[in-house]
This record gives sequence, structure tokens and C-alpha cells, in this order.
Amino acid sequence: MSDKLLTASGIEVTYGATRGLLGKPGGGHKVLFGVDIDIRRGETVGIVGESGSGKTTLGRALLRLVNVSAGTIRFDGKDITDIPDAALRPLRRRMQMIFQDPMASLNPRHTIRRILVEPLLLHRLADDARGAERRIAAIFERFMLPTACLDRNPHELSGGQRQRVGIARAALLEPDFVLADEVVSGLDVSTQAQVLNLMKELSRDLGLSMAFISHDLSVIRAVCDRVYVMRHGTVVEHGSCDRVFTAPENAYTRALLDAIPLPRIEPGWLDRVAEA
Ligand SMILES: Nc1ncnc2c1ncn2[C@@H]1O[C@H](COP(=O)(O)OP(=O)(O)O)[C@@H](O)[C@H]1O
Ligand SMILES: [Mg+2]
Repeated sequence: MSDKLLTASGIEVTYGATRGLLGKPGGGHKVLFGVDIDIRRGETVGIVGESGSGKTTLGRALLRLVNVSAGTIRFDGKDITDIPDAALRPLRRRMQMIFQDPMASLNPRHTIRRILVEPLLLHRLADDARGAERRIAAIFERFMLPTACLDRNPHELSGGQRQRVGIARAALLEPDFVLADEVVSGLDVSTQAQVLNLMKELSRDLGLSMAFISHDLSVIRAVCDRVYVMRHGTVVEHGSCDRVFTAPENAYTRALLDAIPLPRIEPGWLDRVAEA
């Protein structure tokens, strides 16, 4: 078994491409220009770069949520670049995504209970609603979410609670890989720390692989083992967080680092906010 869970090479994505004559792609807006990235089992990888650099597109390409116009994506040893949706379906549970705005991914008309129970039944991770609720109760305790939240609708929760529900929903499905796209961007700093610590704990306990997309270098440094720095649809630098943050080789990485107040990008930042 390879230590790589996810490997992508030469990834290109073009939005709005039409199939021209003879099946050749025509027009469109190319946003990824041959990206290579790999994620090992149990590892948390950061993807950082300014807005519009292609982070979300790359994340969505890894999960096969947007089509790639070139390159290969392998998940757990299997080439998934071109497999049809039906073949992808069994892998969907194993690859979960947590979004910046959980409101957009949680059905506003459903109670939290229904939002969490249904996927467990669908993926047969619980035999019946009672079994599903037992699992949910356990994760609620761990996430310090009050049981009363179960009977509420998403908009009745605080931002931090909603984000924890979004993470709980992903975690309940026992994925191998989680893509977290700007998951703490809308939260205040102490709520950010709570959510980040929860995710660190989860990835450790479940042996999860994670890709952590953020425009915020402090967040990346606090949770990631390795980091990829993106600019204009390419990776300009990658390496261990320790190395990239202390000895960046690329001028753009250095500029990103210089733009952030020093105390925030120290490795102990998260622990300090969490304690405060
Ligand atoms: N659905 C889409 N259709 C067309 N262009 C898009 C779409 N999504 C993103 N883009 C464009 O692709 C580029 C990269 O966007 P994105 O991947 O969202 O970057 P990031 O997440 O780093 O901010 C941007 O120029 C953006 O305008
Ligand atoms: Mg984005």
C-alpha cells in the first residue's frame, strides 16, 4: 500500500470550455496550469495563495467536482480522472468536503437532526434512525454541541456551532480524505482556534488525510504538515511548513509571509489563542 492517498499530476482546469470541431477543446478560461500535488495518509496539507490563485478549483478538481482538461488524479491507488459518476459514487463517502459557509451546504429547511441522520442511513453507516442518533450524540458531546441544536434549523445556530455541525457531518461519514476550504475565514479568532483544534484532533484520531485551503498563512502553519503555495494557477513552492515558513525559497512566498504580522505565523499561535 502506497503512503500516498491522493496524487494529482499535471492538473489543468479550463472553465467554460466548449468541445470544438473534432472534439478539440475550444475557448474557455484556463485557471490551472499543470499542478502537481500529493497527499499522504494521515497528513494535513495546506494550500495557500491569494484570492483567485486557483485554490478552490484545485480542491474541487481533486474531488472530481470539476472536470480536468489535462492531468491525472489517483485516489487510494485508483485512477479516478475519467471514471464515470456511477463508479465515483462509492468513493464519495470517503472524500468529504467542508465549506467556508456551512449555510450554503446545510439545507435551511431541515433540522440539524435530519441533516445528520440522512447521510448515515444513505451510506448504511447506521441500521436505523436510533443507531444514527447514537452516533450523532457521541460526536455532539465531543464537539461540545448542545443536544438542543438537533431540533433547530441551521440559521438558528451560531456561526461556530454551524461550522462544527458541518465538520460533524463530514466526520460521521468516516472519510479517508477531507477537503476544508477556508473553513474558519468567517469566524472570530477564538472561534477559529476552537474549530482548528477540533479538526487537528479529528485528523489525528481518525488518521484522516486533509487538504486545508486558506488564504491565511497563520491558519496553515497552525494545522498543516506541508504546504503548497499557489499563484496564478500554478504551484510556486511546496515543502514542509517548518521549511517554507522559516526559509521560503520563492519571492512570492516571501512576499506573502512579509504581509502578515509576525506573532500570528509562529507555530504556537493556535495554542496561544486557544488558551486566551
Ligand atoms: N465556476 C467558475 N466559472 C468560471 N471561472 C471561475 C469559476 N470558479 C472560479 N473561476 C475563476 O477561476 C480562477 C480561480 O478561482 P478559485 O479557484 O476560486 O481561486 P481561489 O480559491 O484561490 O480564490 C479565478 O479567476 C476565478 O474567477
Ligand atoms: Mg477559494
